[in-house]
Amino acid sequence: MKFRALLLGCLCLWACPGDPEATPLDAGPDLANPIDPLSMPAAPLWSSDRFRSAETCRACHPDHYAEWRTSMHAYAMIDPVFRALVQVRQRDFGGERDAFCTQCHSAIGTRSREIGPGFRFEDLSPVVLEGVTCEACHRISGVERLYNSGHHLDPDGPMRGPIPDPMPTEAHASEGSDLFERPELCGACHEVIEFSGLPLERPYTEWSVSPAAREGRTCQDCHLPTVQGPAALGGPTRARHRHQFVGVDLPITDGFLTPQERDELQQRIAGLLGGTARLSLGVPEQLARGQRLDLVVTVQNLIAGHNLPTGSTFHRQLWLELTVTDAAGTIRYRTGQLDPDGDLQDHFSTHRPYGDPDLVRFGSRFVDKRGNPTLFPWLAAEHFSTAIPPGYARTQTLFVDTTRAAPGLAQIQARLRFRAMPPFLLRLLGLESAASTLPIYEVATASAALTLE
Ligand code: HEC
Ligand code: HEC
Ligand code: HEC
Ligand code: HEC
Ligand code: HEC
Repeated sequence: MKFRALLLGCLCLWACPGDPEATPLDAGPDLANPIDPLSMPAAPLWSSDRFRSAETCRACHPDHYAEWRTSMHAYAMIDPVFRALVQVRQRDFGGERDAFCTQCHSAIGTRSREIGPGFRFEDLSPVVLEGVTCEACHRISGVERLYNSGHHLDPDGPMRGPIPDPMPTEAHASEGSDLFERPELCGACHEVIEFSGLPLERPYTEWSVSPAAREGRTCQDCHLPTVQGPAALGGPTRARHRHQFVGVDLPITDGFLTPQERDELQQRIAGLLGGTARLSLGVPEQLARGQRLDLVVTVQNLIAGHNLPTGSTFHRQLWLELTVTDAAGTIRYRTGQLDPDGDLQDHFSTHRPYGDPDLVRFGSRFVDKRGNPTLFPWLAAEHFSTAIPPGYARTQTLFVDTTRAAPGLAQIQARLRFRAMPPFLLRLLGLESAASTLPIYEVATASAALTLE
């Protein structure tokens, strides 16, 4: 209970002043019913032991297995941030609404009702703890709706995949299915709408109106790159698809990845994020000292496929760090610096709440029905987003006071930085030891100079 009080205490602060051009997301359908015959059934659809563990695929699909094992799909039910948030929700609803969070993270566990009211992660079977495991995708027989685990799972059907003429095997019947090459397969889970109807994540919707969609480029084209090799041991060489599903998250659980795998994944994330945005600065060549400098900052999303950031935008931190240094070397203006805990100086900073009123962030935030910021989607009444749509740019003007600046050439240094989640969230959830391991990536940099006379 003390934990809960602490959380609430931190939520009831005033709105974040730094978000540029916040626009509310549209309201979704009314989904207030905690029973959903497809994804949150009242009675088990089947038993979870009808699905096989990824371990059974490993012998013949060693590369797919090795890549999947290091992916966030394999981490979906282990993720301590997920577990901690589910536990807060269990307390808030007395266990009544637990199936909501697990319907995508483990459709097998939710639909078999192995996950019931007040469930405990420790009691779940291995295949359920494998989260988005091989058969959670390759037993999908169709998609009924493009949100909230809107796909059909068929434990009796063949193993479906993209190969139209698979080599026969005794291990399973196989069937080519073009669904595996379509973004609707992803959209069934990568579109999250709360019971209230509030959209939480919507990469599929963003994709559907993107330049990539117009060119026929899908989620798979970017997130499952091809390599030449056998799709199964002893099979013919094909263009097979890598299963690491690189996004922006790096697991924080010790032992989930070896240190070497962790380094490799971190490098891949850095590679994915580098070049996703263009940062530019607009300044006059010269300015009379004492006159206000209007510093125009523009950030363009170069990803053709969806917003920057996308997905869990309410946790992601993409922000501008900028300094203006005068000819004498004195910093005259700064924004985007971290406090001693490594947090941005917004309403959630312990040391300097609102210490950075100009903070420019791209992402989203929840407010509850009284207009106060909240971290929990189930307490949110509105979801404000400043994420940047594909191809588009957002511009913000910073006002810099030059009264005390030394005459001569002033330098402006800026960088766009990204972090998957804020340290304060980990501290609130009792995961503080992981806070210092969160990497910060450099997405783009820019510099400029002007003469102050
Ligand atoms: C005894 C070996 C063996 C085991 C075990 C095995 N598979 Fe396969 N699988 C194959 C072979 C062989 C193919 C055909 C490969 C080809 O044609 O290139 C195949 C094909 C596939 C395909 C492609 C189907 C298509 O038409 O696109 C999928 C998906 C698949 N397997 C998933 C799995 C999963 C998931 C498991 C574990 C539950 C598994 N397999 C276990 C041998 C195996
Ligand atoms: C044109 C290439 C491209 C396409 C198409 C694309 N993505 Fe991405 N995706 C990226 C890049 C680059 C990133 C890393 C930057 C970011 O986070 O937005 C990313 C990041 C992500 C992330 C992690 C984002 C986060 O902050 O949590 C998810 C989830 C994701 N994509 C899902 C999808 C889905 C689902 C689709 C299809 C509906 C899709 N992507 C289509 C390139 C693409
Ligand atoms: C999140 C969903 C998802 C998960 C989890 C997943 N796959 Fe796949 N798999 C796909 C998709 C999508 C494709 C086809 C991509 C395309 O054609 O663009 C695919 C393709 C394949 C193929 C056909 C060969 C190829 O690479 O194209 C095999 C075999 C396969 N997967 C095996 C596995 C095994 C084994 C696991 C678990 C270790 C697994 N998959 C986990 C979505 C998934
Ligand atoms: C059965 C539900 C489901 C399906 C289908 C699915 N995903 Fe996911 N995906 C998830 C979940 C849940 C996570 C997050 C796990 C976690 O971090 O706790 C995730 C994570 C990811 C990530 C990593 C994001 C990050 O921040 O690092 C990427 C990228 C991704 N998925 C892409 C895809 C693509 C592309 C497809 C379609 C081929 C797909 N997914 C299909 C449920 C699904
Ligand atoms: C409709 C499917 C779906 C539902 C329902 C869902 N998730 Fe997820 N979750 C995802 C997908 C997809 C991702 C990967 C998105 C990304 O990386 O941007 C994800 C990622 C996450 C992550 C890791 C990334 C992050 O935000 O830090 C956490 C934690 C998480 N979900 C918690 C929850 C909680 C708590 C709930 C219930 C309130 C929930 N999820 C409900 C699909 C779902």
